[in-house]
Amino acid sequence: MFNNKKLFLNKNIIITGGTGTFGQAFVKTVLDNLKPNKLIILSRDENKQYLMAEKFSKHPKFKCLRFFIGDVRDESRLEMAMRDVDYVVHAAALKHVPVAEYNPFECIKTNVYGAENIVNAAIKTKVKKVIALSTDKAANPINLYGASKLASDKIFVAANNLTGGKTLFSVVRYGNVIGSRGSVILLYKKLIDENSSFLPITDPRMTRFWISVESGVDFVLSSMSIMLGGEIFIPKIPSAKITDIATAMGPSLKQKIIGIRNGEKLHETMINNDDARNTLTLKNKYIIIPSNEDRHFSTLTKLGAKKVKENFCYQSDKNPETLNLNQVKKILHKFLKF
Ligand SMILES: NC(=O)c1ccc[n+]([C@@H]2O[C@H](COP(=O)([O-])OP(=O)(O)OC[C@H]3O[C@@H](n4cnc5c(N)ncnc54)[C@H](OP(=O)(O)O)[C@@H]3O)[C@@H](O)[C@H]2O)c1
Repeated sequence: MFNNKKLFLNKNIIITGGTGTFGQAFVKTVLDNLKPNKLIILSRDENKQYLMAEKFSKHPKFKCLRFFIGDVRDESRLEMAMRDVDYVVHAAALKHVPVAEYNPFECIKTNVYGAENIVNAAIKTKVKKVIALSTDKAANPINLYGASKLASDKIFVAANNLTGGKTLFSVVRYGNVIGSRGSVILLYKKLIDENSSFLPITDPRMTRFWISVESGVDFVLSSMSIMLGGEIFIPKIPSAKITDIATAMGPSLKQKIIGIRNGEKLHETMINNDDARNTLTLKNKYIIIPSNEDRHFSTLTKLGAKKVKENFCYQSDKNPETLNLNQVKKILHKFLKF
């Protein structure tokens, strides 16, 4: 559990995509554990904001929340939202692989131009630190969602060249969030609730990285505490086979192979061979550092970080932390009471 109580003390924070799976968990953790002055939730849909405001209305720190309608495609609106803001967490995105494949222009407008707008607005309003959320699909991308997130990662890493250290930009990259909107776990839950006789499996060999949304939030907060700008922070998290997830959720149900979908990989990669050259390992995380900066290496090695081996890659099928069926069952029970 993240325990730097001084983070955000009397500061103003904005979370883009604050009504989403990550955003709501982030707001809960911050309100429960930290003492910000203002926590601004920026997103487009008023109804999601209304429901979220209702949900948090009884929280003793509810008064520090601000619900701000805005679109990351609109730079001037972001500038308005970031006035007097110290920290930005950028979680707004279009994240469904098939949606991005079918609507490429829309995906690029939100995920790539949106990233550019966040950078420009944060620099103009003199924000101190920005963390952008990314995905394992951005490493060696084969679909537009992943490619758009890779472009976004590059925009945030390069943004550090524009500010002389006044505004710091870093990225957090992780895998599938257990039970997030659009995840296979929610699909299986829906099918089980509808008494389906089978659960679809794209490919029985498929593996994925998994993280709980609470761990994702803790990881973002701890990365924000130590970031120097330009890092891609990657948590060490478990992998599991999709067939084990289906077996754990519907032990008596048939598993029907439906074939891998357009834009899907058999296994996900979080760090590829080429990035290994600039990757450090530190306790519960890997950190890809900018290739042209020695200060990251010297600061992080003082904290105990070490370089990974040259041919290292962090891939869901070669993960030393691969869960067996019993462990998958325990995790589903812990986080989803399934
Ligand atoms: N879920 C996962 O498994 C996973 C894994 C790795 C990384 N990530 C990354 O984590 C981040 C958060 O994901 P999530 O699961 O919380 O997503 P989510 O539940 O789909 O939430 C997305 C949020 O972004 C907002 N949004 C979408 N387009 C926007 C725009 N143009 N301008 C402003 N707000 C916009 C949505 O609200 P409105 O529609 O009302 O605007 C919503 O609040 C994303 O960057 C995603 O790529 C997610």
